[in-house]
Amino acid sequence: MKRKVAIVGASGYTGRELARLLARHPAFDPPLLMSSRPGVEPDAPETSFEPRLEKLDLERFRDVDGVFLCTPHGAAAPYAREAMRSGKVVVDLSADFRLKDGALHGSVYGEDHGPDLRAAAVYGLCEHARAAIARARLVANPGCYPTAVTLPLLPVLAAGLVDLAADVIADCKSGTSGAGKDPKKRTVFGAVHDNFLAYGVGDHRHAPEIAQTLRTDRVLFVPHLLPVFRGILATLWLRPSPGVRAADVRACLRAAYADEPFVRVYDKGLPELQFVQHTNFCDVGVADVPAAAPSGARIVVISAIDNLVKGASGQALQNMNLLLGLPETAGLLP
Ligand SMILES: NC(=O)c1ccc[n+]([C@@H]2O[C@H](COP(=O)([O-])OP(=O)(O)OC[C@H]3O[C@@H](n4cnc5c(N)ncnc54)[C@H](OP(=O)(O)O)[C@@H]3O)[C@@H](O)[C@H]2O)c1
Repeated sequence: MKRKVAIVGASGYTGRELARLLARHPAFDPPLLMSSRPGVEPDAPETSFEPRLEKLDLERFRDVDGVFLCTPHGAAAPYAREAMRSGKVVVDLSADFRLKDGALHGSVYGEDHGPDLRAAAVYGLCEHARAAIARARLVANPGCYPTAVTLPLLPVLAAGLVDLAADVIADCKSGTSGAGKDPKKRTVFGAVHDNFLAYGVGDHRHAPEIAQTLRTDRVLFVPHLLPVFRGILATLWLRPSPGVRAADVRACLRAAYADEPFVRVYDKGLPELQFVQHTNFCDVGVADVPAAAPSGARIVVISAIDNLVKGASGQALQNMNLLLGLPETAGLLP
């Protein structure tokens, strides 16, 4: 028998991406698409090809096996609580349950709507938490930038290949879809087209999430906005431990991800957005920067993901597959 899921926030970018992925998933019936805010009637489709969205009705959680929450931060707790009360598993794409430290969550995101849920949630970076996710009821889907930064750094830091006396510089660029569907001063066409800018320097909300996952605050994260719609390219500058070269970092990453279907470590060349757009891949390449400067050699690791897929809905589907005992890759391989 096929499974069924509900998507809350189905009119948004990540909700729509999930609906697209689920439409070709072999183990799911068409999802229950729910929008929008409580008490608000969803817009009727503007074309005959758009799916009809249903009014948000938490009673309908009874009809499904799992619930995706594609809502802005601060909104997820009541939906997660109700879905779990009905015995359903939940993947939340917002940041509501990602940070374990309550005080930190409060200072970054404001009011804490669900300390109990944050405590119960498993951080869903599948490649590093597969067993815990499979046993969980609630998964906090990782943020887009944190996914692009932590997937390449976790194995390399664990192997002691980086000298953390120097900060790791995470110089990251994202397409505008990372900001969601509602127009914002920074993301309207006139502000983005033919432009390039840094934002959130020193206070971006993803910095504490990166620090929590990597267990170090030695990562200096600087996000930029690209004049493209989808994709994140992260350029990670590392000072290597003595004697470590790019080949060692590449070998470490290849060993760590040898059996991972969604992490591709390059033997040569470097990732580009167009290699990962519309896919659930995280592509990783490594290069040496010779020791010309007095500060010594650097190694540059480049990773690329599609923020709407591996950085959001694809990873969320990977998590839901695990929660429901399905093959993790189902519906996600090209
Ligand atoms: N975009 C990305 O690349 C990305 C990556 C990783 C994580 N995320 C996170 O995923 C979540 C969704 O992102 P998005 O880009 O899809 O945002 P979005 O395009 O702005 O869509 C948000 C959706 O949530 C609905 N909504 C708003 N307030 C609600 C409420 N109180 N209750 C129920 N539904 C509500 C909206 O409905 P209306 O139709 O009424 O507006 C819309 O369907 C966010 O928390 C975001 O931070 C996004």
